[in-house]
Amino acid sequence: MTAVRVAVLASGGGTNLQALLDALHGEPITPLARVARVITNRPTAGARERARRSGVPTTVLRDPDDAAELLAALDQSPSADLVVLAGYVRLVPPAVVARFRWRMINIHPALLPAHGGPGMYGRRVHEAVLASGAAESGATVHYVDEQYDRGPIIAQARVPVLPGDTAETLAARVLEAEHRLLPKVVLELARLGVPSQPVRIP
Ligand code: GRF
Repeated sequence: MTAVRVAVLASGGGTNLQALLDALHGEPITPLARVARVITNRPTAGARERARRSGVPTTVLRDPDDAAELLAALDQSPSADLVVLAGYVRLVPPAVVARFRWRMINIHPALLPAHGGPGMYGRRVHEAVLASGAAESGATVHYVDEQYDRGPIIAQARVPVLPGDTAETLAARVLEAEHRLLPKVVLELARLGVPSQPVRIP
């Protein structure tokens, strides 16, 4: 079985991308999946430098709303089998969602369906969790559909909200959980051959 080719979409520093690179490209090399391309809407995104250091080709989108441009980047050799959104803050055009139905996933730093949706990214998410008085938070990996953070959930990882937590301390605890959850989900989807139907991973 050839390794699943993963395209990662990222807008920011790219620590989730790094967790994937470490898990897939680190020793021992897994034959299950490889990061084949990194695509960003920000030329200055730290994720780009991480890709460069790992010898992974990158693409900077001129217009992230242009479906044809994004599809061309995803189809560029080595074309993507699985698309991972890791800190990508733009809505994916519907034509791209349709083309990669059940083969495009996103990681969100909260326990969806709570604390997701338009504008819910970065510290705002953790501020909302603290304001809600929730006893726990966590990370969610879900399928991408035409709306922010609404696609079916694949897997979640839970962390406690501790007394005295700030948005920063909670974000750091959730990010650690993200760095474990995302590679676990990608490897399991690859092991399953990237099913064309939704799966739930315990
Ligand atoms: C992560 O918390 C992720 O859940 C969210 O954006 C943040 C990106 O972090 N969507 P990084 O760029 O992977 O470090």
